[in-house]
Amino acid sequence: MEFTEVIKNRRSIRKYTDQPVTREDLEKIIDLTRFAPSWKNSQTSRFYAILTPELKNQIAEEGTCDFSKNKLNIQSAPALVIQTTVNQIAGYEKDGTFTTSKGTHWQSFDAGIACQTFCLNAYNMGFGTLIMGIFDEEKIRNLISLPENESISALIAIGCPAENPNAPKRKERSEIMQII
Ligand SMILES: Cc1cc2nc3c(=O)[nH]c(=O)nc-3n(C[C@H](O)[C@H](O)[C@H](O)COP(=O)(O)O)c2cc1C
Repeated sequence: MEFTEVIKNRRSIRKYTDQPVTREDLEKIIDLTRFAPSWKNSQTSRFYAILTPELKNQIAEEGTCDFSKNKLNIQSAPALVIQTTVNQIAGYEKDGTFTTSKGTHWQSFDAGIACQTFCLNAYNMGFGTLIMGIFDEEKIRNLISLPENESISALIAIGCPAENPNAPKRKERSEIMQII
């Protein structure tokens, strides 16, 4: 697929077909996601793929803070990826102090880059994705026995799209860019 097409046509997908996402599909996506840039090449993103309907549906039921839209989004998708970040590395010095005045900011920054890299790779392979930021971190932490030193950055639903939504309106270039 052409690069600009991938950037422009990727959409958030909230309805999926029953076609499964395989372990091999996810391995391919992650293999490319590894090339995302990160703070001092620290590569702190981790991806927990959930392919079993039982655990995925438990996360949908118990891990979405009663935000029913995300419950439905997760139930619709054949697979769910929980993206986490190893804490206190990106943006930190070895002695645990912050490198910059922006504190913990760089952890989330790196997670965002990796997340979009994942979603674009997935789209390029024919899959739809949905990034979700509304979730119950503690509930999901317990359900997947997440290591103490990781925090959840995002949930990513993935599967074959069963919808073809229009792109939500984007701001004009003049609203977001200035030559100074
Ligand atoms: C950090 C982040 C959190 C999001 N959280 C949710 C969410 O919890 N539920 C949802 O349905 N969509 C969520 N979205 C999807 C956005 O609504 C979507 O990206 C935006 O409307 C633009 O649409 P597009 O992705 O099709 O271009 C999230 C997107 C991002 C980047």
